[in-house]
Amino acid sequence: MSFKEGFFWGGATAANQYEGGWNEGGRGPALTDFCTGGSVKEHRKVTWEDKDGKIHVTDQVPMDDTLPEGAVHYVTADGYLYPNREATDFYHHYKEDIALMGELGFKMFRMSISWSRIFPTGMEDKPNQEGLDFYRKVFEELRAHNIEPLVTLHHFDTPLGLVEKYGDWLHRDYIDYFVKYCETVFTEYKDLVKYWLTFNEINNTIALSLFGFSFTDEDYKKRLQHLHYQFVASAKAVKLGHKINPDFKIGCMCSGMVVYPHTCDPKDVLKAQQTFEEGMFYCGDVQCFGEYPPFAKRMWKDHHVTGLDITEEDKQILKEGTVDMFTYSYYMTNNVTTHEIKDKVGGNYAAGVRNEYLTYSDWGWALDPTGLQISLEKIYDRYRRPIMVVENGLGAFDEVEDGKVHDDYRIDYYIPHIEAMSKAIDNGVDLIGYTTWGCVDVVSAGTGEMRKRYGFIYVDKHDDGTGDMHRFIKDSGYWYKKVIESNGADLSK
Ligand code: BG6
Repeated sequence: MSFKEGFFWGGATAANQYEGGWNEGGRGPALTDFCTGGSVKEHRKVTWEDKDGKIHVTDQVPMDDTLPEGAVHYVTADGYLYPNREATDFYHHYKEDIALMGELGFKMFRMSISWSRIFPTGMEDKPNQEGLDFYRKVFEELRAHNIEPLVTLHHFDTPLGLVEKYGDWLHRDYIDYFVKYCETVFTEYKDLVKYWLTFNEINNTIALSLFGFSFTDEDYKKRLQHLHYQFVASAKAVKLGHKINPDFKIGCMCSGMVVYPHTCDPKDVLKAQQTFEEGMFYCGDVQCFGEYPPFAKRMWKDHHVTGLDITEEDKQILKEGTVDMFTYSYYMTNNVTTHEIKDKVGGNYAAGVRNEYLTYSDWGWALDPTGLQISLEKIYDRYRRPIMVVENGLGAFDEVEDGKVHDDYRIDYYIPHIEAMSKAIDNGVDLIGYTTWGCVDVVSAGTGEMRKRYGFIYVDKHDDGTGDMHRFIKDSGYWYKKVIESNGADLSK
């Protein structure tokens, strides 16, 4: 049997896409509450008012939502829906959802805390008691169903107060505000939560260039600085967390930016290697080894970056706050090449050269279970610490027929991915958990759509904001229950 006893089978979500209750219980607004719906063709928008009162609607640029001086996010831009605000309303449905997860036999549930539910602007002296009480009830409910919580501290939803004051992670003061928030929740839930992740997909900040976003050297420098402050904040949080409870297991979380050379031209091979380094190992090395990798020099030089604010004290903190485990999301692979290519992939968050050996999802994402095995083995070989795949899944259109969803396509997606994990374990990888993405339907992060569904559990909520939010288990959910019961041995349909 490949999967160890006690393997953490489960599902994953994030507050900004799932929780809702955006203006309830004393919660302050977060960046993601101001992002409109979109689609593969139409970018999500950010609506804002400049210092002269003029309203603007601009494309959202992930990981850089800094507005011009004096501008504020504008709340009621006509005709736009802001799907993250209500999302799929875990806030009011948490008991029901956790009961359904319990019915499926989940061993672990990944969720995030909304920072602005604890500190409404991110800068208060005292936390919001109602927010603390909410998550306590959630964690107690999970424990009552024998489900281990895995808690992400930051999943895209920086408090708006901080963003409007400092830009998006562009100021050193963020570090202390974040650490204070971590200290509060670590202390509050030290007996309820053992597994934590600091920043979701921390590497997106620079690795988005893989997905067709191109940055000027100046933007790139801003992004490296943003990242550095997050590295220091993460390391301080890890160190503090271990002090508060030495049993805590705290991980980093990277987006699985897995790339192949498109041809065997050595130049393509080198490009793929360097892209992998930049996409995943830049962040992984700092968080696992406590120092910047040797190839950082190359990246900084290529983008003419000098004068980053990195102090000697920061370097010491990075060394003292290395993570206990490596976690990542895995959805697809991308091909890179130095050659001129016509057949390009164009999906949301998928770009580059089409891989003729693979098929693609309706959102243009390459379906590639082998890439999961490759990445697991490559990452474990480098870091030699426990790994969790904390996101994986198929975003698809689901049809409801007589109150059911017959999503065989989702089962067909999972079977080879689970087999790939099993092979990686057999090859020595210390994989300890697998939490599939959007186990309960959530709003898509990339497109803001509801119709891009990942769940084992359906939620009646639609892109136009309609739906009564009732939930039920899809066919894939019953199949996953069997997988969990057999600890990964029975993948049959
Ligand atoms: C990851 C994020 O990038 O991918 C999630 O951590 C996100 O927040 C997931 O939802 C899937 O992406 P999308 O765009 O299909 O929601």
